[in-house]
This record gives sequence, C-alpha cells and structure tokens, in this order.
Amino acid sequence: MYNNILTSQEDGITKITINRPSKLNALNKETIQELHAAFRVADLDAATKAIIVTGSGEKAFVAGADISEFADFSVSEGGKLAEKGQELLFDFVANLSTPVIAAVNGFALGGGLELAMAAHFRIASDNAKMGLPEVSLGVIPGYGGTQRLPQLVGKGRAMEMIMTAGMIDANQAMQYGLVNHVTTQEELLPLAEKLAGKIMRNSSVAIAAAIKSVNAAFEDGVNGFKVEIEQFGNCFGTEDFKEGTTAFLEKRKADFPGK
Ligand code: COA
Repeated sequence: MYNNILTSQEDGITKITINRPSKLNALNKETIQELHAAFRVADLDAATKAIIVTGSGEKAFVAGADISEFADFSVSEGGKLAEKGQELLFDFVANLSTPVIAAVNGFALGGGLELAMAAHFRIASDNAKMGLPEVSLGVIPGYGGTQRLPQLVGKGRAMEMIMTAGMIDANQAMQYGLVNHVTTQEELLPLAEKLAGKIMRNSSVAIAAAIKSVNAAFEDGVNGFKVEIEQFGNCFGTEDFKEGTTAFLEKRKADFPGK
C-alpha cells in the first residue's frame, strides 16, 4: 500500500516506520504524503490509542528532507515546500488527538529532528544523533525547527544548534530535555510500547483535550489558560469522565469507553 513506510497495528498501538534505509529514511515528497495518510488513518482508527513513529534500519530515524528533490528549487518553490510540508506532516502530527511518540533510533537531522519534535514527546536509543544542519546547506530549517527547537531546549541552545549545524548525541539531547529517555537500540521500541501502554490506561478523550490545551500555549494570539478552562469543562460532558470518577469512588479500575 505504501512505498516508503511500513505500518502495523497491535494492542492499541499503530507503529509507523519510515522505510527508505538506503537513503537513511530521508523525507521525499512521496514519503511525506504517505506519512500524512498513515497518521490520518491511525488518528481516525478507534482501536489506535497511541502512535509510535520510528525509522527502519540501525542507522537513521530520518536524515532530513530529501536534498536531491529541492536542490534546484526557486524562491517560491522553496516557500511552498515548507508550507506544504508543515501542513501535511509537521503541524498535522503536532495537532493530532492521538498521542504520538517518536522513537529516535539513529540520525535525526533536519526534517528528521523536526518530525521527532512535532511528535508529542521523544525517546532515543544511545546511538542517536540529532541536529538541524540546514545552514550548512545554505538554507534554514523549514519544517518548524526554528520554532519547536527553542520551545523544547530554550533559545540559546537552539540558536547554537542551528548556527553551528552540529549534532548532539542522545545523552546531551536528554540533558537538553529534547528527549525524555535514552535506552539501548534493542530496548527502544519496547520502551516506546511500555510508555504507550501507560498512556492507554487513561481516558483518550481527556488526553486529546490535554494535547489541545498544551499546544495552545504555543499558538499565536491564543490564550492557553482559556483553552484549558474550555477543555476542562468539556471533559465533564464525556462518558470517560463519568466512568473515571465513578470507578475511583467505587475503588475499581476505570474501563474508559473513549467517548
Ligand atoms: N537527502 C537525500 N539523501 C540523503 C540524505 C538526505 N537528507 N541523507 C542521506 N542521504 C543518502 C546519501 O546521499 C546516500 O545515498 P547514496 O548511497 O545513493 O549516495 C545514503 O543516503 C547514505 O548516506 P551517506 O551520506 O553515504 O551516509 P554516511 O553514514 O556517510 O553519513 C549522514 C550519514 C547523516 C552524516 C549524511 O548522510 C548526511 O549528512 N546527510 C544529510 C543530512 C542533512 O543535511 N539533512 C538536512 C537536510 S535539510
């Protein structure tokens, strides 16, 4: 069904694997379109409670946007490339209702790090290397990197990473707060699944409301506290809320209908 990605769904988790290992999983146009479709399908699938995105092979998560595709672009084509990519993939992922965990299994450079940063949080294997090398190519990050990196690591660190075009390793990424956990290559997906499992025990409608509220803090002209109040209020009208509070008072585990 897809040429550049693999998808699977098991025990409430959809796994999306970028699968162009010979090009270090670089994001060409087709891969971005396929990722859009796969994330959309997973988000609409009632049985999917969490999404894990990772790269195939042992070397790379994603080594960036596919440089061979845009090397001869004009100013307007460049602008459109960034706009379309942000709309189809990076903003799309960041705003999904279903939690997305990026399991960074190697190089996450340029668009690769931008994809990982669009996910709701990140974990990494100890061989991971992360950076935004765009200025070494005479361009800047165009898939949200100049915005999301400072949000995650602070302005000074982001400025240094972007201006030097250098890479940081998994431990430094952890110190920076760019990834939440570092583990071995073998344990990376099991850890992602374990974290997804913890998430899935909770109310999916409440999680969707939480994602909206947290994201509101980073939206221009939006009062995040107001969004939180509205989303908080909405929760009181859900079946999950009735079940969660009733189960607590009855001293049993909640069995959320997800509505
Ligand atoms: N776009 C297109 N092709 C890419 C790519 C990218 N972003 N990153 C890697 N590839 C391709 C290489 O061209 C090579 O293809 P080939 O075998 O047909 O020549 C293949 O993937 C393997 O990469 P290679 O460079 O040989 O691996 P390496 O281990 O020597 O180096 C990297 C690994 C990640 C350091 C290096 O590939 C690199 O710097 N990639 C570009 C990173 C980048 O600038 N990304 C931001 C893009 S905006």
